[in-house]
Formats: sequence, C-alpha cells, structure tokens
Amino acid sequence: MKKFSRQYSSLDQACLEFDKIIRTLSGKNNSSERDYPAENISHPYLSDKQKKHSAALMRINHAGEVCAQALYHAQAISSHDKKLKEKMQQAALEENDHLAWCNQRLIELNSHTSYLNPFWYAGSFAIGLAAGCAGDKWSLGFVAETEQQVVKHLEKHLNHLPKNDERSFHILQQMKKDEAAHRDHAIQSGAAVLPNFIKKIMKITSAVMVKISYWV
Ligand SMILES: [Fe+2]
Ligand SMILES: [Fe+2]
Repeated sequence: MKKFSRQYSSLDQACLEFDKIIRTLSGKNNSSERDYPAENISHPYLSDKQKKHSAALMRINHAGEVCAQALYHAQAISSHDKKLKEKMQQAALEENDHLAWCNQRLIELNSHTSYLNPFWYAGSFAIGLAAGCAGDKWSLGFVAETEQQVVKHLEKHLNHLPKNDERSFHILQQMKKDEAAHRDHAIQSGAAVLPNFIKKIMKITSAVMVKISYWV
C-alpha cells in the first residue's frame, strides 16, 4: 500500500512546535509509552525530610527531561539531514517517558515540578538550535556529550536518594540505562568529539540548573 506523508507549511510546523512546548510545560504530554518502572515496587515509608529530599532530586531530573525535550526538538528543527531530523524526533518521544515518570513520582511525593521549567526550556531550545546549526556531526556530538553527562549525574543521584526510596531508584536506574543507549547511538551515528571548553561550559550550565531546581 502506498504511504502518504503530509507536507506541513511553516505555519503548521510553528503551531506543532508551540503545541509540543505547551504540552511539555503543562504536563499534558505526560503519558508514557512504556510501563512505569516503579509500577511493582511498594510505596516505602519516608520521613518528611527524606520525602523532601527525594522530591528535590526528582524535580531536578524532571527539569533535566524538560531540557531534553527542548534540545531534541530544537535539533530536529535545525538538522540538515532528514533521517537525523526523524531520529531526533524519535529520541524526544523516548525522553518523554522519562518526563512522565519523573512527573508521576513527584505527584506521589506530594511535590511540584520546577517553577523555572519555561526558563530551562527556552535556554535549552536556544542551545539545541545552535548545536543543530553547527552541523549534524556536531549536533550528534552535543547529544553524545549531554547524554554522557546525564549518565554521570544519574549515577550520583542513585547514590544520594534515601536508601528506602526504591520507587525513585527504579525510575532513575531505567533512565540511566536509556541515556547510555542514547549516548551510544549518537556515537555510532557519527558524533564528533566536542572541544573540552564546550564540555566544561555544558557542565557549568547543568550544575547551575541542578542547584536551582533542587529548591524551586
Ligand atoms: Fe531522559
Ligand atoms: Fe536521553
């Protein structure tokens, strides 16, 4: 059977992008394709202090996933290659599971997502556009380095969670596995290795986001 693919005008595309932003920031995009990793894990007893700490860590990870949505959307728009555009859009869909899982865990912990999510989204979108405009191998290099830094960050959070918060632990463990796969995929697709000073700027930028999202 012949497949028909719809051609979108620039206005259609702008509306679709705007819709994605609203869905990401409003939590309306928060249904996951895959099962919730904490589905079969019992709800642990957590003291108020532990609950607050777990929620703060999950808020950081949710904000990170908001950034991932922005980065992948922007890179899909600015990529020069049709296949790479599709891969970036597909990656954004997979990252959406992470967004949904972190959001669900925050609800369970009676907490909230970062109030600064629109700001994180806008900043990451601008960075993603810049990476995409630099060319596909650099864009992929940016994905590989971002995912590598996220893997390291998740390792840290897995150690910092309250010991009995197994629900959050299972979510972060699955996310870490996925992010490592995204990194490897970007490398196999021809990612360039970024200069050290860019890696350093990326680390500083994400450290600022982590510090602020812990509280707000
Ligand atoms: Fe993710
Ligand atoms: Fe990822």
